Amino acid sequence: MSSASAASALGVPPFGVYVHIPFCARRCDYCAFATWTDRSHLMERYASACRRELASADLGPATSVFFGGGTPSLLPAHLLVSILRSIDTAPGAEVTVECNPETVDAALLDAYVGAGVTRVSFGVQSMAAHVLVALGREHDRESVVRAAGLAAAAGFQSWSVDLIYGAAGESLDDWRATLEAVLVLEPPHVSAYALTVEPGTPLASDRARHPDDDDQADKYLLAEELLGRAGLEWYEISNWSRPGHQCRHNQLYWRQGDYQGIGCAAHSHDRGRRWWNVRTPERYMAAVEAGAPPLGGEEHLTPEESHLEGLQLSLRTPAGVDAAALREAEQLEGLVEEADEGRLRLTPRGRLLANVVAGHLR
Ligand SMILES: C[S@@+](CC[C@H](N)C(=O)[O-])C[C@H]1O[C@@H](n2cnc3c(N)ncnc32)[C@H](O)[C@@H]1O
Ligand code: SF4
Repeated sequence: MSSASAASALGVPPFGVYVHIPFCARRCDYCAFATWTDRSHLMERYASACRRELASADLGPATSVFFGGGTPSLLPAHLLVSILRSIDTAPGAEVTVECNPETVDAALLDAYVGAGVTRVSFGVQSMAAHVLVALGREHDRESVVRAAGLAAAAGFQSWSVDLIYGAAGESLDDWRATLEAVLVLEPPHVSAYALTVEPGTPLASDRARHPDDDDQADKYLLAEELLGRAGLEWYEISNWSRPGHQCRHNQLYWRQGDYQGIGCAAHSHDRGRRWWNVRTPERYMAAVEAGAPPLGGEEHLTPEESHLEGLQLSLRTPAGVDAAALREAEQLEGLVEEADEGRLRLTPRGRLLANVVAGHLR
């Protein structure tokens, strides 16, 4: 595998590889991702199936690799590294691993660095003890501080923090304190997500804990203010970074780039064709071991669908859209503002109503 050095990935067409790791120690009751808490005995076989899927996919060089989950940091380092070594990475490739703070130690992060991982993303969610309990998380504030220190000691220049706002019992002051405590750690990248009620989750069936739209709007605007003041710039509705620390892999999604998903439930895209793998690790492994594609389904976007989706994605970023792409823009006062070269982009308030603005796209 090429080392993820300072070498430039320029000159190689952008192409991403996403690897799904479907194992968690415990399921957070708001989470609907494809992940299981009782299957760690499958890890070795699962990693082997991922390597086999990669071998048969015969992919071009990846400019970004993203290990997502589930909890990739629960996978023993040698297994994650064995998958990474099976991926042809372009010089200077970005390689991200999602980590739960309580699962990392120096040996794990050193192994990642040694194998070419360039970025870790910690699922922090909150720094307030009662909010972490409400979200059903296993870690505490101290383990976040410890994980950030370990990432710095391992030499990670780029790392990120995932936050969630709007949990039951979280006040605006709790959210402010979370943002401030995270900013003390100087993360180069922060993702802040509004807690979403996913159908079928325990959270969905407990209405008393459903988030309030106005409360989440206030919290979004506070995030924009505090993160911006700390030098983290908005580059997608839920994402802020210092210059040069944007997540290249996610930018590929937002620019309709091509990527290949490896593992169960992983999604792929190739010039308008989208497909996804079967959802459970058992069905995935059985298909790959039988030499069959682990295909769960597929769809083809028409050029019109692809065009509209491209506009919707671009609208969520500071690039915005061509002014001509928004009909009746005069009705969107306060929600959009002028960007460069005849383009319009969302204001912070507009980002709260991005779906309304997107309804004006043509
Ligand atoms: C699927 S998780 C995987 C990474 C890791 N296991 C973790 O929990 O941090 C990625 C991120 O998705 C976000 N997330 C998952 N479910 C969500 C929900 N219902 N609402 C908002 N954010 C959610 C969390 O911020 C989480 O960090
Ligand atoms: S949020 Fe992360 S740790 Fe919690 S169940 Fe989902 S993938 Fe697992």
